[in-house]
Order: sequence, then structure tokens, then C-alpha cells
Amino acid sequence: MNRRQWLRLMGSGALVAATLPLLGCTSNMPPEAIAAWQPPAADLELRRWVLSHAILAPHSHNLQSWLVNLEMPDTILLRMDQSRLLPETDPFGRQMVMSQGTFIEVLAIAAQQRGYHAEVTPFPDGEFDPRRVDERPTARIRLIADASLQPDPLFAQIFQRRTNRSPYAATLPTPESLAAIADSMRGLPIRCGFITAADAQIERHRQIANEAWRIELSTPRTLLESYKVLRVGPREIAEHRDGLSLNEPFVRALTALGLFDRSKASSPDSAEIKGQIDKFAAKIAATPAFFWMISEANDRVTQLQAGRAYVRAQLAATAQGLAMQPLQQALQEYPEVYKSYNQIHQLLGANTPGQTVQMWARLGYAPAIEPAPRRGLAAHLV
Ligand SMILES: Cc1cc2nc3c(=O)[nH]c(=O)nc-3n(C[C@H](O)[C@H](O)[C@H](O)COP(=O)(O)O)c2cc1C
Repeated sequence: MNRRQWLRLMGSGALVAATLPLLGCTSNMPPEAIAAWQPPAADLELRRWVLSHAILAPHSHNLQSWLVNLEMPDTILLRMDQSRLLPETDPFGRQMVMSQGTFIEVLAIAAQQRGYHAEVTPFPDGEFDPRRVDERPTARIRLIADASLQPDPLFAQIFQRRTNRSPYAATLPTPESLAAIADSMRGLPIRCGFITAADAQIERHRQIANEAWRIELSTPRTLLESYKVLRVGPREIAEHRDGLSLNEPFVRALTALGLFDRSKASSPDSAEIKGQIDKFAAKIAATPAFFWMISEANDRVTQLQAGRAYVRAQLAATAQGLAMQPLQQALQEYPEVYKSYNQIHQLLGANTPGQTVQMWARLGYAPAIEPAPRRGLAAHLV
């Protein structure tokens, strides 16, 4: 919407008329969209029980690309749904593979809770090409009883974990909390670190994050990719139970009036894009800490491991009462954002070939939020 359309709308009273029926309705998630966040029945068959936890893993754009085959006894064969990719912002599928890794890790933590070791064979039919993903399995997972296993304390956080996009309080995370997050990834081939507001370098992080966000919103094809998976209002959210949910009465009113057209990329000068950029910059300015993860290589197995490490870090942060939100915009591999990609790699000292910043996230204290939708276990079984 441009300024003139905006003023006309305000003057016409149409926005008030469209918002009125929505007043009094809440911006709560429709219950069927978040039903998967209830613990499964204790007597559910083991593989389905662990999978009911795994589908709560974080996934880029909440696409939930996990396809599961249970034909082999005691075994879960995992594939990536090729109709749920992000070809514009994630052209080589790095974040998609990470999002398979998050699933595997939550599954393994749940199996451990029941005294089973999840033996993971990554890419049993061969690793994907570095530049494209395909329909071959990402992992074969065998559940093996092991009476010596102790439960993982992160299990308790699976139902509490959220990607929290709210503004964070200025309070710095405690050194003990940061140590607990770093410790959670021990044994995985990933280094991690933190920058807090006590460090002058944080300003550089903020600049890069803001610029990469601006680029994503100002590049029509990357913006449209997000628009495609926006779910506005309870009806769309309940229908899809995936993607990025927008449930505030104001956005619903604009959509109802036909003023939020998701088939066209908004102009970088439009009020909504400028508003989004300003809102993001305010959150980034108030963010008290950033978390990063670097791998020495960027092959597909490492990307799976990076996903495993990320969800462990987020679960550990949850246990510390800390919120996290990934900032993948500068880590994406489309040409327009290469400058930001290089800047964040240089800033974090990931300079040698293969060294890759797999995750960069904001970290801080924030009010609790509702869980994000899930499609439910049945949608993943093939
Ligand atoms: C590899 C990966 C990349 C992600 N990138 C972003 C991101 O750039 N911005 C963001 O707000 N969330 C990001 N997320 C979080 C997802 O959007 C989130 O997991 C999904 O919407 C489901 O919400 P939940 O984590 O609260 O269950 C990412 C998650 C993963 C696993």
C-alpha cells in the first residue's frame, strides 16, 4: 500500500468497519493447529511416540518437510518432501538439510527418554549434490534398546521450545546460561559463540542483520517466497497448520479488505515494507545478545549435524529461560545477499574454504508465546 492509498483508507472508515467484527476475537492460535503440542499417549507404539516429539522440531519457514517411512521394523526412513523447499532464499537447500537435522535430534532425545539409542545412518543411499537436494533419504534411523542410557535433560524442553520473534528485554544473559547453551552441543562438529551488548562489536552484528533483512524484503522473488507460506487468520492457519502465521486483527482486517495482496511483491517504498524494516531494526537494536554456530566444512552430513546442534542449543536456551530467533537472512546464498554473507563470515572469522556460519540468532529474555502450528504425525507418514 502506498501513502495515498493508506490515507484514503483511513479516511473512508473501511478499516474500522473491517476491524470491528474482529474486535473481541483473540489472536490465539486455533486449537487444531497446535494440537500436536500435547504429549502423545504413553502406550503409543514406540516409533510413533518418538515421531510425535520429532515433529515439534524447528524447521525453516515452518515447512515441516519431513516424510517418514515405517516399512522396515524398528526403523524410520526419513526423506525431504520436495514440494516443501525454499528455492529462492535457500537455493542449495542448506537450511532444509539443517531442518532434517533438528528433527533427527529431537527424535533421538525422545528415544533416549524411553531407553532406546537412535542409530542414525545419514544419507544411506548417498549424499545430495552440494547444489541441490533430492528425494533420496536424508537418514535411516534404527531404534536399539540400551538399558544403560540415561535420559537427556533437554527432553523436558521439547514441548516448551519456541522461536520467539518478540522484542527482547535489555538484560544480558548470564555467563552460566551461555555456558549451558555452548555445552549442550558438545560432541558435535560445530563451534559456537556469543556476542553480547557488553561487546562493542554487537553494533556490527546489528548493521549486518538489518541490511540482510532489508535485502530479503526488497527482492521481489525472496519476498514472494515468504508471502506464499504466510497464513493469515485462524481459517488459513487451521487449514494449513504450517508456514508463518499472522493472526493479529489488523493484518486480518487488511487482508479481508483485499489490501494485502500476497500475489504481488510489495514495493520497497511501501508503508508495509518500510514498517517491517523499522520494526525489525527496533527489535535488533534492543537485542542483548547474538549466538552463532560455525562448521569447518559444509557438506550435507555437516549440515545435518548443524541442525542437531542448533536444536540442542535452542532447547538448552529454553531451559535457561532464554528466547532465541534465528537470523538466517545474511546466511542465505542468493546473489543479492552475498555482501552480507561475506560480512558476517568475516566478522565471525569464518574465512577458510568450507568454513560456514550455519546459524546466527538473537538471544534474550522475552515473554512466553504460543507454539507454532504443526500438521500432526499422520501428515508425515508415507
Ligand atoms: C534452519 C532454520 C532456519 C531458520 N531461520 C529462521 C529465520 O531466519 N528467522 C526466523 O524468524 N525463524 C527462523 N527459523 C525458525 C522457524 O521459522 C521456526 O522453527 C518455525 O516457524 C516453527 O516455529 P517453532 O520453532 O516455534 O516451532 C529457522 C529454523 C531453522 C531450523
